[in-house]
Amino acid sequence: MAKWLPLARVVDCPPGTGMELVAEDRIVALYNVDGTFHALDGVCPHQGGPLGNGTLEGCIVTCPWHGWQFDVRTGQHQLNSRVVQPRLEVRVEDEWILVDLG
Ligand code: FES
Repeated sequence: MAKWLPLARVVDCPPGTGMELVAEDRIVALYNVDGTFHALDGVCPHQGGPLGNGTLEGCIVTCPWHGWQFDVRTGQHQLNSRVVQPRLEVRVEDEWILVDLG
């Protein structure tokens, strides 16, 4: 069942940036790719690095700890097809970015 929660304001995450946020008991990595928001589980599956603090280039984020790279639109690891970071659904409503924690 969907459980939409406000995560951040649209103005807080400009195009080309990402940020780390906490929503209830989850760490969420939020990204803005050319005006479209995407959210991933914010804990890197390698050793727990903060994906929301990674470098975003186009739609690829690089984990700041050891450089694993993911497509933020799909969660797909860029070298290992078996590694897919969980995604969260995102929508924008009244200048707020909401994620589905359901
Ligand atoms: S913790 Fe992310 S690459 Fe190692």
